[in-house]
Amino acid sequence: MCGIVGYIGGRDCADVLMDGLEKLEYRGYDSAGIAVFEKNIIRTVKTRGKLKCMADKLAAEGKPEGFCGIGHTRWATHGEPSDINSHPHSNGRVTIVHNGIIENYAELKEFLTEKGYSFVSQTDSEIVACLLDFYYDEREPLRAIMETVKELRGSYALGILFKDFPDRVYATRKGSPLIVGLGESEYFIASDIPAFLKYTKNYALLDDDEIVAIDNGGVRFFDVHGIEVKKRVQTADWDIEQAQKCGYPHYMLKEIHEQPEVVKKTLDSLVRDGVPDFSGIGLTDDFLRGVKRVFVVACGTAMYAGMVGRYAVEKLARVPVAVEIASEFRYMDPIVGEDDLVILVSQSGETADTIASLELAKSRGAKTLAVVNVKYSAIARGADMCIHTLAGPEIAVASTKAYMVQITALYALAFRFAYARGKIPADEMKRLTAQLYNAPKAIRDVIDNKDECQFIASQLVNVETLFFIGRGFDYALSLEGSLKLKEITYIHSEAYAAGELKHGTISLIERGIPVITVATQRDVLAKTVSNMEEVKARGATIIAVCRKGTEFAEGTVDIKLGLNIGDEPSVGCEPSIGCELDDMLIPLPTVCALQLIAYYTSVLRGIDPDKPRNLAKSVTTE
Ligand code: G6P
Repeated sequence: MCGIVGYIGGRDCADVLMDGLEKLEYRGYDSAGIAVFEKNIIRTVKTRGKLKCMADKLAAEGKPEGFCGIGHTRWATHGEPSDINSHPHSNGRVTIVHNGIIENYAELKEFLTEKGYSFVSQTDSEIVACLLDFYYDEREPLRAIMETVKELRGSYALGILFKDFPDRVYATRKGSPLIVGLGESEYFIASDIPAFLKYTKNYALLDDDEIVAIDNGGVRFFDVHGIEVKKRVQTADWDIEQAQKCGYPHYMLKEIHEQPEVVKKTLDSLVRDGVPDFSGIGLTDDFLRGVKRVFVVACGTAMYAGMVGRYAVEKLARVPVAVEIASEFRYMDPIVGEDDLVILVSQSGETADTIASLELAKSRGAKTLAVVNVKYSAIARGADMCIHTLAGPEIAVASTKAYMVQITALYALAFRFAYARGKIPADEMKRLTAQLYNAPKAIRDVIDNKDECQFIASQLVNVETLFFIGRGFDYALSLEGSLKLKEITYIHSEAYAAGELKHGTISLIERGIPVITVATQRDVLAKTVSNMEEVKARGATIIAVCRKGTEFAEGTVDIKLGLNIGDEPSVGCEPSIGCELDDMLIPLPTVCALQLIAYYTSVLRGIDPDKPRNLAKSVTTE
């Protein structure tokens, strides 16, 4: 839930650490800090607030001068955001940065207090610094780390400096990510690749319980017993431009603009000879034929992407799909077994509840499939099979392009599923795939007409509460649109299946409350329109998101956002005609409109959409 970095090399360490933290700020941004060996003495600078506050503090106090150090950007779990609770933490001869949660910190604190240690912060992390110091009596850093991690329960990625070993960084991990960047005579540790992408694309992954020691002489890896191990050097396929704003005011807007391209890229990676082909990852037609039930397990936006996937797979392949919230699935003793396919959807691949659900599904004998954007992540590595979505690094906290490629991959899977089970012929699979290739153009069209979303945002900027309604795919979109809006605008928003609002919640509708109605699905349009009218009659302001040609009775709709995705029934249409999309695929451009509405409303309300309050992008705790 926090970001950690470390550096040793010939550059100004403070600059490299600050640069890296800027790339990791999506992981947490309520405080930050760095510790650098300055003339063989560790100097720490840290502060509450976003990285900008840290930069101001460094400018005011003078940055530590040196070539080796560690840094941290925090999302508070234990102890409020404050200067004292910010990392790095030092105790005795050890300085650390920590990402994760030490679950047994209370008992360790008691033990260390008895040994004479005292604590200044309310964090669980400070305990780790003390414990390392406690085990450091022989002045052997490696041994101290090995002894310390034996005592820790929970998750951690640690960057460690020992005051007696200037210009050396140690790191270890369990559960939380940690990657070692391998440059020319310079080395990095980081929670995620973008932190060092500017300097090197080469990296090695640290596995659970492994330790890395880095100094000017190079990098050495050790297993849990302290035996030196060799690691495979890998090369990142991300470009530094993907991890920069490139002239956009916010990452979120840049990432929305990247959607047509990343949908195409993801599709290209999944399609062979005009149809989806997953045989390369072991997802063969034979296997798909044998699946009895599908579970899609995920959190947040990824879970809502799973809902779109559910509607598509059920509609086409006629196999039952349950979408489960990972934090529920892991504790509900689910009825899941050998004949089931459990799909874990995750942008980061490191969401704690999704990882736990993966382990549970595996322990029950189910086959597991990850749909993950970060290919070196725990979920990508832990699942039996993995569809690697190609959104590239997503920095904004609110997920946009990752959702888009998740649903793209799930559509492609639905097509193949349906074909494998004999529900659609090869020609139809080909036609649907060609339709999916129309999506980038349709999404681009929404982006080109973003002023319409801007206008809707201008109407929402001062509201206190609003609703989203829709049916089927439109309901799944309503949930995602509502989440996007509330997380970055702080406007209270709820999404309902359009037919459900009248069972209680309609009592909240009063004059002027906006109801954003997603009405793209023609098979249920008439029903959705009735629900629109129900709320209109109670004073709601109706904003309809629909196909451009959709007509409503006079007076029903206050603002219409018509998407240019063809008005003709799609049956028998040629995929080559412009943006025409089957109803089933309309979520792709529609969600882009909902993202833009949320983005512009956030900006108009003076909020930084990239870093909404209280949130973090990667949730590595329960
Ligand atoms: C957090 C983020 C959401 C994200 C969810 C799941 O809550 O703020 O944007 O959808 O985690 O993350 P994942 O990396 O598993 O997709």
